[in-house]
Amino acid sequence: MQTIKNTLAENFGGPMSKLGSTQFSLDECPDLTGKVAIVTGGSRGIGYGIAHTLLKHNISKLYILSITKEAGDAAKEAIAKDLGQDTADRVTWVHCDLADWKQVERVAAAIRKETDRLDILVNNSGWGIMTPSLTSSGVDKHMAVNHMGHVVLTSHLLPLMKKTADRGDTVRISNQASNAHQGAPSDTQFASLDEINSDAGPNGQYGRSKLANILFTRYFNRNVTKNGHPNILMNATHPGFVSTKQSTQDIHEPYPIAGYAMSYGMDLIKKDQFQGAVPSVYAATMAEDSGQFICAPAIPEPGSEMSQSDELADKLMDLTRQVVSERSGVII
Ligand SMILES: NC(=O)c1ccc[n+]([C@@H]2O[C@H](COP(=O)([O-])OP(=O)(O)OC[C@H]3O[C@@H](n4cnc5c(N)ncnc54)[C@H](OP(=O)(O)O)[C@@H]3O)[C@@H](O)[C@H]2O)c1
Repeated sequence: MQTIKNTLAENFGGPMSKLGSTQFSLDECPDLTGKVAIVTGGSRGIGYGIAHTLLKHNISKLYILSITKEAGDAAKEAIAKDLGQDTADRVTWVHCDLADWKQVERVAAAIRKETDRLDILVNNSGWGIMTPSLTSSGVDKHMAVNHMGHVVLTSHLLPLMKKTADRGDTVRISNQASNAHQGAPSDTQFASLDEINSDAGPNGQYGRSKLANILFTRYFNRNVTKNGHPNILMNATHPGFVSTKQSTQDIHEPYPIAGYAMSYGMDLIKKDQFQGAVPSVYAATMAEDSGQFICAPAIPEPGSEMSQSDELADKLMDLTRQVVSERSGVII
């Protein structure tokens, strides 16, 4: 019975969100005075819910990385209105297209110069359930943005996070995955660029990139956290089924008619952007373990069988390093 309750709490809003075996609310976020954070996609949707919460709990500096300046400006305005201008002044919005790995490398270098610490990195941006397409470097856009761009960002910020951790502080990285990782093609091997560029349909393509988010998390735990950096933690999250631009507007691009089932049909039972922020805020501020897949509100779940494979994670990361360096010259 509790398994069913957990599934409801993990995915849906309203009273159902309270049924989980583990509870966590945004009010329990600890005081973050003195800390520095980055949230990708922090200017709208779930990312805004995360950014707003970190600011409300006194984070000293927050970088929001995304593409659309208007969304960044609107987020700062909304924060100023809600939490005061002083709080909004702690936000720096930076243009960073996660599909452009050279730009990601430059952004990370600039942040490394600007701040001497990084306590929280929330890799939240996402290209949603959309028609498969390639980036200008010829790589599946779902994998390029959702997985590879975040790997480049994390890797180029790691020296800063190590410096922070060496002072005795805990650094937490949270990767926004999804239960939709279960929709990855069952023959996924991450064996070649041709494989990830092969058309698996909007759900398959999105699911594969979300599987990559969890595998990267497990890989990082084995190779960084458990390999000499016990206070740099990385966890993956599933926010639930959340009402955002992705689930109300973008979904009509691949599914012009059927998309209404998700955009309107399910609207009453979706979580709002703050409920959707709960597992990321938990992973970014409270988690004491690493390498987990945390579902809303704070329930560790095993994830799919593929998401637990160390062998698949190693292959994914070999392919990621190869594709990123061949297509952009960026080394991770
Ligand atoms: N909504 C759900 O039900 C749901 C469920 C499971 C997982 N998720 C995941 O949650 C995360 C947030 O999504 P959301 O639902 O909050 O959607 P959203 O409101 O559409 O926000 C998506 C964010 O990602 C940013 N982004 C997209 N492409 C980017 C790129 N190439 N480079 C940098 N940033 C980029 C967008 O930037 P701009 O503001 O510049 O457009 C936006 O801030 C995603 O990873 C998504 O896959 C969502």
